[in-house]
Formats: sequence, structure tokens, C-alpha cells
Amino acid sequence: MEIRGFSRQYGPGCPRCLELTGPEADSNVCPECRTVVACNQIDLNLGAGEILGVVGESGSGKSTLVRCLYLTEEATAGECFLAAYDSGNTNIFSESSQKQRFIRNHLMGIVYQNPLLGIKPHFTAGGNVAEKLLTAEVYNYGLIRGRAAELLTRTEVPLERMDDFPATFSGGMQQRVQIAKALANNPPILFLDEVTTGLDVSVQARVLDLIKEIQRDLDISMLVVSHDLGVIRILADRTVVMKNGRIVEAGLTDQIMEDPQHRYTQLLVHSML
Ligand SMILES: Nc1ncnc2c1ncn2[C@@H]1O[C@H](COP(=O)(O)OP(=O)(O)O)[C@@H](O)[C@H]1O
Ligand SMILES: [Mg+2]
Ligand SMILES: [Zn+2]
Repeated sequence: MEIRGFSRQYGPGCPRCLELTGPEADSNVCPECRTVVACNQIDLNLGAGEILGVVGESGSGKSTLVRCLYLTEEATAGECFLAAYDSGNTNIFSESSQKQRFIRNHLMGIVYQNPLLGIKPHFTAGGNVAEKLLTAEVYNYGLIRGRAAELLTRTEVPLERMDDFPATFSGGMQQRVQIAKALANNPPILFLDEVTTGLDVSVQARVLDLIKEIQRDLDISMLVVSHDLGVIRILADRTVVMKNGRIVEAGLTDQIMEDPQHRYTQLLVHSML
């Protein structure tokens, strides 16, 4: 996945929005027109089978980035290309909503911080996985049932809970059902937005292990978003640091941890130690 010049703003916008906002301006709100520039000229590359981390404080634009890449929200500017879609020759931001739905259903998965954004509490665990398979045009009941069992096993949801409602599950187990559902269509790209935020530390560690295992076994490209540098350090090969909608630093995660260049990254790293 390659992203070039991606911006997303909330508000009418004016010719000076992009220049008057950002980390150096210390705000993502344009002082001229009050538009919020949530993402500001973002360039990103996500390689095949790579885990790319996006880290930044609350409000830096991470979730907006994910929603736009998942095509549930419209980019204000920029281009995005997927190797798995038209061999990377078509900007998916400018495709029709019907084609965007196809891309989402067949080529992408998403896991949100709040499990209830990703799964339906009044569908069973298996039913949630089935729902994603149906959108990916798998209609055979036996196949769906088998695949749901396989994915729930993979994400360590006990099979005897397959026909139970996630409303009765712990937060960690709801999150694992959400991951199973996100993987159902075997997507080449998975977006993970603060997936362990709010979980107990021990549960968090297990979910992070699971994500790493899945990436290794299935060779999925993952964009992992978190305000928590600790999570990013565990998961990501490469990391970009966002502040006020802009990328202020990018590089190998180890390098960023050991030798942060931007003042903001230094603050993040030091506050973690
Ligand atoms: N629908 C919206 N309308 C107006 N402003 C929004 C909307 N969604 C997000 N924002 C603003 O965009 C900025 C980035 O938000 P978000 O992407 O949620 O950041 P993060 O996920 O890093 O916490 C914030 O200033 C937020 O208030
Ligand atoms: Mg967020
Ligand atoms: Zn403006």
C-alpha cells in the first residue's frame, strides 16, 4: 500500500490551512478558518507482510488516517494504491463507492479499539465471522461454519463459545472475536486501531502475541496505530510518529527508540522509560 499526499480536514478549508497547522504551529486547527486539519500531507508505504506502526498522542490524526484508508471516510486530498488492486495502478480514493466497498470487503480487515464497533453483540461469535464472509461473497453454509471455527480457534476463542453472544464475553475475548472477523476474508491488509487500549496488562500481552503470530503465519501487511509506544515497539518493524496531523519522524522502530531525532519523539521515548 502506498499513500501519497493524503490529507483529511474537517471544515470549509482555506488556502492557508495546511501551512498554518502542524507540529511547528502547535495545533491542527487553522487560525484563519477554524478548520481541523486531522491529517496533513501524509506519505506512507506499507510493504507486503510488514507491520508499520503509527504512534502519536490523542488527537494527532491516527484514527482519521485509518478510517480514510479503510475507505469509510473520504480523503480530502491525496492518493492511495494497493498492490492487490489493479496491480497498484488505480488510486482507490477516487474509486466509486461500490468499488470501494468491494476493496473493503475483499482486501481489507479492521480491528477497532472498541470491540462493539467491529462486532455485533446480538450476533453470535460465529455469526460475526459469517457476516464478514458473506460480504466477501462466501455463501456455502458448511464452508462458513468451518472457516468460522478455524478462525475462532486461531484467535483462541473456545469453540464451545462459538454460538454464544459476544455481549457475554470478557473484553479480551471480544477483541479476539473482532480479530477473527477481520481475518475472515483473508485480507492482504489489516488495520489495527488501539486494539489493546483498555485491556488488562496480561490480556494485552496475549493479544499482542496473537497479532504477531497471525502476521507471521498469514504474512499479512498490518498498519498498527497506538498512542502507546510500548505497543508499537512490540509489534512494528518500522514506525512513523504523528503530531497534529503530520508525520514528524519515520524509520526503523529500534532506531526511533534508541535515537529519536524530533523533539516530540524524544519526549515520547523518554516518557516511556
Ligand atoms: N468528525 C469529526 N469532525 C471534526 N473533527 C474531527 C472529527 N473526527 C476527528 N476530528 C478531529 O481530528 C483530529 C484527529 O482525531 P483522531 O483521528 O481521532 O486522532 P487520534 O486517533 O490520533 O486520537 C482531532 O483534533 C479530532 O478532534
Ligand atoms: Mg484514535
Ligand atoms: Zn484554513
